[in-house]
Amino acid sequence: MKTNGLVVAIGNDHTAYEFKQPIIKFLHTEGYQILDLGTNSSEPVDYPNFGFNVANAIVSKKADFGIVICGTGIGISIATNRINGVRCALCYEEEIVRLARLHNDANVLALGARIISDYKAVELVKLFLNTKTSDEKRHQLRVAKLK
Ligand code: RB5
Repeated sequence: MKTNGLVVAIGNDHTAYEFKQPIIKFLHTEGYQILDLGTNSSEPVDYPNFGFNVANAIVSKKADFGIVICGTGIGISIATNRINGVRCALCYEEEIVRLARLHNDANVLALGARIISDYKAVELVKLFLNTKTSDEKRHQLRVAKLK
């Protein structure tokens, strides 16, 4: 299988074990290297642990991008954003994904498994990974203040 040179870390709680499977299939088909940091069953777990797993993969440069998923996406996005160097955006719609990359240089996408369909999730992941951050100075200066 040919890789595209990019590593995507994925972390989720029990609400998203089934939900993440089409995302993993998509990433695999597109040639991304996947760092699956769990959980890998429907047994209840605590979402912060899996957000931290992905955040640590990003800041240690083991992954280029991250995807985190819990029931709403809220808890795991809060956890992931606690680690300095992570810019995690919770997105339910395409336009928000586009702006999260363009204006905020988001490096982690958070999704809500109980809120959106798995089809929508794959569409959002595709857009997230294919949208470049803006090269406009004003956005770069603002993002620099987040680091
Ligand atoms: C688990 O029941 C649920 O609370 C969790 O997945 C998430 O939605 C928290 O924000």
